[in-house]
Amino acid sequence: MVTKIGLDLGYANITVSDTAAGIYREQSVALIDKDSRRIVSVGLDAIEHAEEFSDRALLVRPFKNGLLFDRQITQSIVSKVIGSVPQGERLRCVIGIPSDLVSKQEKDIFNILADSGITECYAVNRAAAALIGAGGNPNQSVISVNVGASATEIAIFHNGEVTYTSREMVGGEDFDKAVKHYIGEQGGVNLSLSVARAIKEQLGSVWHGKEEGSIDIEGTLALTGNSVKMTITSEDIVGVFEKPLYRLLMAVANAIKKIPLDQVESVFANGIVLTGGGSMLHGLDLMMSKILGVSVRQPSDPIDSVAKGLSLINARIPVRGKAVKKNVTNILASYYKE
Ligand SMILES: Nc1ncnc2c1ncn2[C@@H]1O[C@H](COP(=O)(O)OP(=O)(O)OP(=O)(O)O)[C@@H](O)[C@H]1O
Ligand SMILES: [Mg+2]
Repeated sequence: MVTKIGLDLGYANITVSDTAAGIYREQSVALIDKDSRRIVSVGLDAIEHAEEFSDRALLVRPFKNGLLFDRQITQSIVSKVIGSVPQGERLRCVIGIPSDLVSKQEKDIFNILADSGITECYAVNRAAAALIGAGGNPNQSVISVNVGASATEIAIFHNGEVTYTSREMVGGEDFDKAVKHYIGEQGGVNLSLSVARAIKEQLGSVWHGKEEGSIDIEGTLALTGNSVKMTITSEDIVGVFEKPLYRLLMAVANAIKKIPLDQVESVFANGIVLTGGGSMLHGLDLMMSKILGVSVRQPSDPIDSVAKGLSLINARIPVRGKAVKKNVTNILASYYKE
């Protein structure tokens, strides 16, 4: 019996997907012992225990920039999260990787997986995986845009080939920073990024149609450092997302510009498949579609598309019965031929 899982080590969320057991998502934070560098706990548990261990442990986000991470920490996290999956005799893993990962970094990831007891390790470009997770087919001509917390990954498919990939360092956290900056400038109140994120998730919008609302928050007065409670309304944050939104749209526009003219018609027939938690900002799909003049489709669970896609891909990879370390991005379409 081989258990086949997908593993997405994101900046905000670590997600494990198993086509049989479902999806397990955990916040991407770890409490690390300062001296031994061992993991005390991961995810929500880490946040809840941070104060208790504050004299000897540090809370870290281990997967900044989606690229290379500390080997020991990554290995502990991988071991911990895959422990949450019911395991058969063997575990086969497909991991999502950023488009600009260099081969040395790819090799390191494979070695980390192998050291965690996974003998068959595969890697797939994250935007490519997201397309599959959103119900797409890599033999279509289509643009996949995955907006994470730290980065936006783009992949374009044509005739079963990945013809373009890119990563732009803009994502959900840039929207949080825009809220934080705006409230700091306008109201003279410093907010934590997590409070700014809550404001964005509950009230944020880049297109009309979201119900008006308000949220009670706590911050500190910039002038005195004293704690202050305030109510933020939808009205208060209209227009705050302008700068990161522009960068995000430009990244997609730049990708579109690279499409050879004879492929434009077929790629535009399917348009953009938009995924990632960062894409859940209200109205982002509509804004993207109107500005870029291309249809945009979003699945109902965009935050889990990468992990879901990774496990679906895993289910299609033929069993080899031996140790394998392989990037399958460029042969993905062959698994989906009729
Ligand atoms: N309802 C919502 N509205 C707006 N943003 C949301 C919503 N729900 C989640 N998000 C955002 O989604 C982001 C997390 O998405 P995701 O899990 O795809 O990121 P990640 O994969 O961990 O990051 P990366 O791909 O950059 O490594 C956070 O910025 C979070 O604020
Ligand atoms: Mg991601």
